[in-house]
Amino acid sequence: MRALDHPSVGGDPIFFDSHCHLNDEAFTTDVGEVLFRARTAGVREVLVAGYDLSSSQQALKLATVHPEVYAAVGVHPHDAKTVAPDVLREVEKMLDQEKVVALGEIGLDFHYDYSPREVQKAVFRSFLELAKKKDKPVIIHDREAHGETLAILEEVAARHGGGVCGVMHCYAASPEMLPAFLTLGLYISVAGPLTFKNAKKLPEVISLVPEDRLLIETDAPYLTPCPYRGRRNEPMYVKEVARRVAEIWGKSIREVAEVTRNNAYRCFRIN
Ligand code: NI
Repeated sequence: MRALDHPSVGGDPIFFDSHCHLNDEAFTTDVGEVLFRARTAGVREVLVAGYDLSSSQQALKLATVHPEVYAAVGVHPHDAKTVAPDVLREVEKMLDQEKVVALGEIGLDFHYDYSPREVQKAVFRSFLELAKKKDKPVIIHDREAHGETLAILEEVAARHGGGVCGVMHCYAASPEMLPAFLTLGLYISVAGPLTFKNAKKLPEVISLVPEDRLLIETDAPYLTPCPYRGRRNEPMYVKEVARRVAEIWGKSIREVAEVTRNNAYRCFRIN
């Protein structure tokens, strides 16, 4: 998979939004304008993550039409109870498409419990096995299931003599758990909540993430960063996440943009 080759404009920062949902119905009418605004704001590439079969197909369609879009395909833990063998086969088939760079988002969500926890865990294991089989990076959603997520990742790593590669999307576990995820070789991704006034653990987490392991994302249309809270989120706002990382790391936005973009290329094997 090759990266886009536009020149940097006047040395302005160039961003990679490593996780958004332009496949969400919030963007049905204006995805072209959203991508135009993103490009104008220096967001060179976006990764659109699937959360069920139809949103995964839509992610793939967007990636086929728009050169700056990459796709991930998978089923969110909310819908784990819908994942029958034919769904796994369909995801597996989509993973062979050229612009599909990851399997996701997958994982565990014990906040809403829309699918029974045991089902979520079994489906998460199946997807991780599929990622190993297809040698694809994963995008992991972990909400209020940090211990269980880590345990399953470690179990798969032990079984295969090496873990999956991929990213903890919208990292929400503690600073204390960070070393365990890093030891597995995973990247850490941060979204709008880092910019919220009440963010306490996240700034500490970010100060501890090695420079070569951090990705930035919007998770649009959700989690709009300050100072745009209350609006629909979109990829151009990834700059606000980078701005806050830059403050914490004592670097320029440009440096943060560059290092996180290169990390995204490495994580998703885009070169
Ligand atoms: Ni998401």
